[in-house]
Amino acid sequence: MPARKILVTAALPYANGPIHIGHLVEYIQTDIWVRFQRLRGERCIYICADDTHGTAITIRARKECRSEEELIAQVKAEHERDFAGFRISFDNYGSTNSSENRELCGEIWDAICRAGLVKTENVDQLYDTVANTFLADRFVRGTCPHCRAANQPGDNCSACGATYSPTELIDPVSTLSDSKPEIRSAPHLFIELNQLRDFLVEYTQQGDHLQKEIANYLRGHFLGDADSPEGLKELKSWDVSRPAPYFGFEIPGHLGHYWYVWFDAPIGYIASTKQWCDRHGERLEDWWKSDDVEIHHFLGKDITYFHTLFWPGMLKTAGFSLPRKIHIHGFLTVNGAKMSKSTGTFVKAETYLKYLDPSALRYFYASKLTPRVDDLDLSVDEFVNKFNADIVGKVVNLASRTAKFVEQVGLSKTYPEDGGLFARAAAVGHEIADAYQECDFARATRLICEIADQVNPFVDTEQPWVLRKDPSQAQRLQDVCTIALNLFRQLAIYLAPILPDLAERAGQLLHDPIVSWDQSQTPLLGTPVAKFEHMLKRIEVKDFEKMIEETAKETAKEIATTPAAGEGTVAASLPQDSDEALRNEPLAAECTIEDFAKVDLRVARIVRAEHVPEAKKLLKLTVSLGGEHTRTVFAGIKAAYEPESLVGRLVIIVANLKPRAMKFGLSEGMVCAAGGGGTEVYLLSPDSGAVPGQRVH
Ligand code: 2FM
Ligand code: ZN
Repeated sequence: MPARKILVTAALPYANGPIHIGHLVEYIQTDIWVRFQRLRGERCIYICADDTHGTAITIRARKECRSEEELIAQVKAEHERDFAGFRISFDNYGSTNSSENRELCGEIWDAICRAGLVKTENVDQLYDTVANTFLADRFVRGTCPHCRAANQPGDNCSACGATYSPTELIDPVSTLSDSKPEIRSAPHLFIELNQLRDFLVEYTQQGDHLQKEIANYLRGHFLGDADSPEGLKELKSWDVSRPAPYFGFEIPGHLGHYWYVWFDAPIGYIASTKQWCDRHGERLEDWWKSDDVEIHHFLGKDITYFHTLFWPGMLKTAGFSLPRKIHIHGFLTVNGAKMSKSTGTFVKAETYLKYLDPSALRYFYASKLTPRVDDLDLSVDEFVNKFNADIVGKVVNLASRTAKFVEQVGLSKTYPEDGGLFARAAAVGHEIADAYQECDFARATRLICEIADQVNPFVDTEQPWVLRKDPSQAQRLQDVCTIALNLFRQLAIYLAPILPDLAERAGQLLHDPIVSWDQSQTPLLGTPVAKFEHMLKRIEVKDFEKMIEETAKETAKEIATTPAAGEGTVAASLPQDSDEALRNEPLAAECTIEDFAKVDLRVARIVRAEHVPEAKKLLKLTVSLGGEHTRTVFAGIKAAYEPESLVGRLVIIVANLKPRAMKFGLSEGMVCAAGGGGTEVYLLSPDSGAVPGQRVH
C-alpha cells in the first residue's frame, strides 16, 4: 500500500508569552500522533508557527520599549527552543507575520469577497486617547450595566454573568492607561457566515470530522436543530477587520483596516506549509488542494468555534481541502485546580526542563490522553510514580538487569524458546497501533505496561545474575538476556512515539536504530550489545517541588518588574493606581500600636474548604495553626474562590476574634481579605517561608 500523506497541525501559540506545561498537552499529544504515523511509514508532516498579530502584541512591545517585530522574533526563538527541549518534531515552525501568510490571506480574502460573503457595518468601539488605540474587550473594565457590579471586564460580568458590548459598560476605564476611553465609530468588515450554514451543518454533523461531543455542542449552541423547541439558529456574522492602529496585515483596498488576528492565524497553517514546500521542492497545492492528503488539526476546546465553523467556511470558499479530522482536547489542571501563577503551578516549559526530564511529562500526558475532550489532571504523586514505576521500573529495568551479561557475546543467533512471550507481545502490537491511531494513548500505554508486567516475572524467575556465576549456564544466560532484551526493544518501539529518547538509546544499545513499527514483529538476533549506559533516571518529588518554588518566585518577580503602559524602566514602571478604593472606603480613625496589638493575626493553612449548601456567600474553611490546632471559619468568599483552589494555601486569620454562632455553625476567627465583596475578594497570603502559627506584627 502506498504511504498515506498526512498534514498535521497544532494550534499556533500566541507570540506574547512563553510556552508552559498547559500548552504542552497539545504539542506533545500531536507529536506522539505524528511520530506514530512516521514510524508506521506514512508521509506525515507536522506544521506549526507563532501567532503574532493583534493588540496584545503591540501592548507588550510598547511596555518593553521595542518594536513588535523585535518582540515576536525573540519569542519565536524562545518557543522553538522550548519545543525542541520537549522533542516536539515540527517539520516547519513559521510565523503568521510572514510574506507567505500575507499573500495567502489576500488569496483567501479575494475568494470570500468574490463569493459575496463580505459586508461593511459601522461598529462603535472604545478608543483610548492616551494609548492611542482601539481597545479590545479585555483591556476595558467598568461597572456592569445590568447588576452594577464594579470593575467588570468589557465582554461579560463575572458577578451576574450578563454579556454586553464594552460600549455599554458604565464608567469604563482603559486598563492600558487608566484613562476614560471614548466611543468611536469605525467601519468594520464582516463575513456573513450564515450564508455557509448548510455546508457547515453538513461538515460538522456528518462523517467523523469532529468528536461526537463537539458536534453536539455546535448543534446545541450555534447551529440549532429543526427538531428542537428552539429550532434552527442563525450564525452570527464574523467581524474580521480592525481599524488602525493594529499590528497585522492591512486589507488590500481598505486603507487603515487590518485583518483581525483570528482571520490570519489559521491561514498561518497554510503559510507555514508553504515554507516547508519551498524548502523541499514540493508544491503547496499538493498538500492543501489535494484529495490525497489527510489534514488533521489538534487544538484546545477553547478555540473550537474558530476551527470548526469559520475555518472550514474559509477553506471551502477558497477551494482548499477541508480538515479530515479536528481533534479537540481539554485543559490541564494541576493537583485538581486550574493552573495558577500564585500557587506556582503555571510552570513554564523552560523552568520544567531545568528540573525534570521531558520524557516524564511526555509519558504522563500520554497515559492520560484519550480521544475525548476531558480535562487532564497532573498530580505530583501520580506524575512521579507513574514514570518511575512504569518506565524506569518495568521497561528500562529489563535492559539494566540483563544487558551487562551479554556485552561480550551479543544476542543469541537463534531466538530461544520464551514460552510465547515475544509472539504475544507482537500480536498486541496491532491493538496498540489502533489505540495510537485513535488518539487513545491512555489505552496504548496500558497495553504496553501489561506486556512489561509479563516479562519482568520471566527475568525474576530466570535470575540471570545467578546464571552468570555458573559457566555451564553460559548459553542459557545468553538466551535469557536475548529474550529480555528483545522484549525491551519491542516495548521501546511501542513507546517510541511517546519516548523518542528511550527509543534512540535502545537502538544504540542493540546496534539497531528504531525506525519502523515493523521492527517490533521480528526478534533481533546475533547483534552486539553495547555497554549499558544510563537510559532514563527516576524522577524525584523534591525536583518537582523545586520547580514549583522557582515558578512561584518567577511570578513574584514578574509582578514586581512589569512595566506599566508606555513606560520603559523599572523605576518608572509602577502602575498608576487609582484612589477609587480609598474613596469607596475612607481610612478608619487612628489607633495606637497597643490597639493594634490586641488583634492577634496569625498565619494559617487552609486544610479543608467546602460549600455550605444553604449559604449563598459563604465557604466553610478548616484552617490549621500548626499541630492539632485547627479552627473552623465561615468566610464570605464563595463568589470569588472555588473550594478546591484553596486547600493547601496559607492565609492570614484574626485568631483571637470572639467566636460567633452562625446559622451554619460556630465561626472561630476571620480570614483576612481585601476587596469590595462578591467576586472582588482577594485573600491575603504571606510570602513563601512563613509557616502556620506565626504571628503577623
Ligand atoms: O488560542 C490561541 O493560542 C491562538 N493563538 C491559536 C491560534 S490557532 C490558529 F488558528 F492559528
Ligand atoms: Zn453584572
